[in-house]
Amino acid sequence: MGLPSVGLLAFGWATPALAGVAVDPGGKVFRLDGGHVTYAFGVDDKGYLQPLYWGPEIDAQAPLQARVSTELSGFDPAGMQTAQEFPGQGEGLVTDPGIKVTFADGNRDLVLKYRAHRIEGAVLAIELADIARPLSVTLRYAIDESTGVVTRSATVRNDGRQPVRVEALASATLTLPGASDYRLHFLSGRHAAEWSQHTVPLSPALTVLESRRGSVGHGNQPWLAISRQGQTTEEAGPVWFGALGWSGSFRLSAQADNIGRVRVAAGFNSYDFAWSLKPGEALDTPPFYAGYSPGGFGGASRAFHRFQMARIIPGGERAPLRPVLYNSWEATAFDVTAEGQIKLAERAARLGVERFVVDDGWFGERHDDKAGLGDWTVNPRKFPQGLKPLIDKVHALGMSFGLWFEPEMVNRDSALYRAHPDWVLNFPGRPRTEGRNQLVLNLARTDVRDHLLGVLDKLLRENDIQFIKWDYNRNWTEPGWPEAGADQQRVYVDYVRNLYHILAELRRRHPGVEIETCSGGGGRIDTGIMALTDQAWTSDNTDPFDRLGIQDGFTMAYAPAVMMAWVTDAPNWANGRTTSLDFRFLSAMQGGLGIGADLTKWNDAEAATAGRWIAAYKGIRATVQRGDLYRLVRPVSGADQTATVYVAPDRGQAVLFAMQRGSQWKDQWAPLRLAGLDPARTYAVRVLGGGALPEGIPARASGAWWMNQGLNLRLRGDYVGVGLVFEAVKQL
Ligand code: GLA
Repeated sequence: MGLPSVGLLAFGWATPALAGVAVDPGGKVFRLDGGHVTYAFGVDDKGYLQPLYWGPEIDAQAPLQARVSTELSGFDPAGMQTAQEFPGQGEGLVTDPGIKVTFADGNRDLVLKYRAHRIEGAVLAIELADIARPLSVTLRYAIDESTGVVTRSATVRNDGRQPVRVEALASATLTLPGASDYRLHFLSGRHAAEWSQHTVPLSPALTVLESRRGSVGHGNQPWLAISRQGQTTEEAGPVWFGALGWSGSFRLSAQADNIGRVRVAAGFNSYDFAWSLKPGEALDTPPFYAGYSPGGFGGASRAFHRFQMARIIPGGERAPLRPVLYNSWEATAFDVTAEGQIKLAERAARLGVERFVVDDGWFGERHDDKAGLGDWTVNPRKFPQGLKPLIDKVHALGMSFGLWFEPEMVNRDSALYRAHPDWVLNFPGRPRTEGRNQLVLNLARTDVRDHLLGVLDKLLRENDIQFIKWDYNRNWTEPGWPEAGADQQRVYVDYVRNLYHILAELRRRHPGVEIETCSGGGGRIDTGIMALTDQAWTSDNTDPFDRLGIQDGFTMAYAPAVMMAWVTDAPNWANGRTTSLDFRFLSAMQGGLGIGADLTKWNDAEAATAGRWIAAYKGIRATVQRGDLYRLVRPVSGADQTATVYVAPDRGQAVLFAMQRGSQWKDQWAPLRLAGLDPARTYAVRVLGGGALPEGIPARASGAWWMNQGLNLRLRGDYVGVGLVFEAVKQL
């Protein structure tokens, strides 16, 4: 069976990509091919849409065919045994559905079968419809030709005359063939301890990764990976991975079904969710990105990083590199004044900092965390002449200017709350639980949305601001929207959509302004908000050793291109640990570099050290931010040594960071074998930041040598590290 291949342009929800979509002449088998990955599904003789294949690229003649399933036993009817691309909750389904509804008459049986397919640009759209009732679901697919990442989403449409209550809706459900050795990998954490990594067997026990908090939160990430025990390592073996592009409550579930097939469902969290779908109305899901790599966790994360850089982050491959920033939060907390900030700005500029950011405390009556949120006007006692003198000074010093906001929040002690107590999420007559003394504005309301957009737009029009740090410092407690009556559970979707609307609209009106997503550190980072922001604040925990673990977890899912890391003062606020300035820089330079220390307390030697590191960083940041990341020695719990290497896309430069927690018994490192270099080119090596090469390391050798023989390192002392830069030598 030859499959006509269709080369397609345009990509519904991301930037254009060439993709391969093929449909067999009988319209029964659908294939997506790209990045050496094949994803296929097909229609069986009963009309069910079945997953057929997802893995390494297979030939165009592969005998893919959807076969009708029969019942396994009286307890397992055929409909339940059929692995469907997107099952409706009906016909005895016992795994997580793609969609669950209740019709107006109380009927809750939904059986979806294939109705039609269309090719819309680069998107393959498959329409499923219920066997009897006028309800349809359109599944959308596109494949990225370079990485093989498949973007999926779903739209449910009510063509009937009565409203339908949607109680669960996934962006995608996915199936892997039966096996007993699957392992599920996921990320979770809490404030100042984000991005810890977990692995569990995929068994008949349903594993749910979710947020019920209204926002993504610090708990589970909307990302997962699946490996095979005994086959998958950091650099080899199969890894399937997926991430949901949604910044609100989400649910990802995974389970082995009764015959060992893996079923994954990802989408809106059905917990406390409902959407009354009016006649003629449609509801779209966010995208789910699904990828496969034969190259282990490293291969999978590099592919997904490349996809994010090319297709998700604003500007794609042309997005500017992250400037070195200074942020005043750890230095001044709420004690922000024009004078104090100017002092910090002068010192920051001398170090080579490129962007100066004023954090919390510049607005309203914000002297601590008890008041002021909601009142986004400059505090006249702290800034008697407004922000202009400070902004002008920062610009004159050659830096761009950034400002902190927490737009979605309000303190009770604020003019905004006094004027609009009804604007917060609440259930009338019930307590309004505070977190950090603040309440959450109900962005689902269009008046709240428009107010915030207006306030932010005005501030950006009236001040020459280049950067916003957008914070969000609590989660929802009483998620009520009284004005929406019986429909108020749609708040989980409308809130996030309006947040995206504000971000998108600000970007459109102020194209020069960059935005950082922050939520008490890394509480709102996902591929949804990534499409509307330029960088992410990974964690409030700025300890350089803890950070190595945080960064390792973060980069399992997300690109170093957006991962910000600061050098702050020692002892560290989070754990009291004291480390050298060198160690702090070497840790923070593995992402977008920032400084968050109190520069007024630094002596000349410290300032000189920092200046040297910042200059060194500028020479490697394109490689760190845009290159391929290889995790050579992972910071597994208790590890004394960790090492990462970043390789530039053209393999002309590589940067190795070797970090040591403690030394014992005069131990030497096991040979560090680099990865990702061109074996045939010669690379000269130098120490990042200057200094003599550690003993025993040749000044130059081929890529093959560095990758196969490796280098022998001995670091002496605790919390020490070294960076080595490998530059390809130009052949004469
Ligand atoms: C959050 C952020 C910090 C800082 C404070 C300000 O915790 O993560 O970086 O901006 O808020 O209140």
